[in-house]
Amino acid sequence: MSNERYYKLHPDLAIGPSKFHGQGTFATRRLGRGTLLLVIGGHIATLKEEAGLPHNIQDAGVQVASDLVLTPRTSELAGGIGYVNHCCDPNAGFHGQIFLVAIRDIAQGEEVSFDYAMCLGDSPHAAPYRLECHCGSTLCRGWITDRDWAIPVLQARYRGFFQPYLQARIEQRSELLLGPPQHVEPDLAEQRSSMSSPPPEYPKCDSEFIKQLPDWEKEYKQSNELAIHYTPEQWKTARPEFSEHDLRILGEPVMEDWEEPYMRVLADIATENGGVVLEIGYGMGISARFIQQAQIDWHLIIEANQAVARKARKWATTCSIATLVLEGLWQEALLLIPDDSLDGILFDTYPLTEKELYQNHFGFFPHAFAKLKKGGLLTYYSDETRWFSEIHIKRLTMAGFSAHAIDGKTVAVSPPEDCEYWKSKTILAPIIRK
Ligand SMILES: C[S@@+](CC[C@H](N)C(=O)[O-])C[C@H]1O[C@@H](n2cnc3c(N)ncnc32)[C@H](O)[C@@H]1O
Repeated sequence: MSNERYYKLHPDLAIGPSKFHGQGTFATRRLGRGTLLLVIGGHIATLKEEAGLPHNIQDAGVQVASDLVLTPRTSELAGGIGYVNHCCDPNAGFHGQIFLVAIRDIAQGEEVSFDYAMCLGDSPHAAPYRLECHCGSTLCRGWITDRDWAIPVLQARYRGFFQPYLQARIEQRSELLLGPPQHVEPDLAEQRSSMSSPPPEYPKCDSEFIKQLPDWEKEYKQSNELAIHYTPEQWKTARPEFSEHDLRILGEPVMEDWEEPYMRVLADIATENGGVVLEIGYGMGISARFIQQAQIDWHLIIEANQAVARKARKWATTCSIATLVLEGLWQEALLLIPDDSLDGILFDTYPLTEKELYQNHFGFFPHAFAKLKKGGLLTYYSDETRWFSEIHIKRLTMAGFSAHAIDGKTVAVSPPEDCEYWKSKTILAPIIRK
């Protein structure tokens, strides 16, 4: 009996030993984004029936509904999707239930992979799934589970490439079932608990901090007008207002183009070591543009606002450097980035909670220390005019950075007189080495 009965593979794909696990599927020549790689076939089985199949083919099928898999029944007929392995940074995804397509260009010799999060869904009919992942990609989550589809950044990254039943679950639509319709409400609290660590707590905006500030900043920062009047969830879905010179979200002055010389210096610092550079907060894309001018391998961007992230993703398709936009708060998206993996970080966000007010960078320091490789560089919008205040140094050292590894450059800037958030003619660009 021929395997052809169960699947059809693109003629420029071949089976060989996988770098991930067992057998894998490899491109014998370059295949462009959107190429149909594999048409998946098999028997329709329930999850319970699948659990009764020979052990070596229990992972050889693909889940196509809450309680259904498309699977071979014997190991002789295994192949197709069974020889396409999981990777947390995949090059393929689903188009409908039975098409596997390239979600980016695949180079000659490259192994085809998809993320199990795209098809694996928790079900009352099956035991919870949890498998240690050794894919080795920069984005490796360490574990694959049947709740990974609920991670917001993955939902954003793989939108359009999930199995349709999972896409329906994500969008809170009814899933197609062989039986009465079922409405699944993904619970946000539960989604959070499925992640590997809770969102971090922020230090309070305390009087010790306010005391350190120059007078003009003290006055500005103690002003009542600046209380936070929105939630992070509202920030995510708000419509950004872009003008030629600035960006406002929910009426807040998020970014202005007089910061360009400062952004250039921050980008130079973050990219000094090359390699993998993470930028948090895309805003007007000014620092992103400077980062792309450097010799780096990867540009990762985390952006909380959905519309700004969409703009960043569109821009990323024009970039020559491999660029990946992760949509969500850094507190969520950072969970996808392994420790000790980054060569540089540029952090430039905006306070979204009372605790972040005037010190949104402080809460990030311990995470920067964890994610940077030894020797990696952290820089960020400092909110300091010339040099680090005492409290600032304290927060950096508390996060693990050595006091000797804290340096900076004073950058000349020309904010317009009516700028609502900066009055000084200089601003500090931190150079913090792990
Ligand atoms: C000051 S702008 C960044 C400016 C950018 N460096 C540039 O050159 O245009 C801040 C950006 O951070 C985003 N942001 C705010 N809080 C965030 C968070 N917790 N996680 C991720 N992005 C966030 C905002 O939506 C906004 O787009």
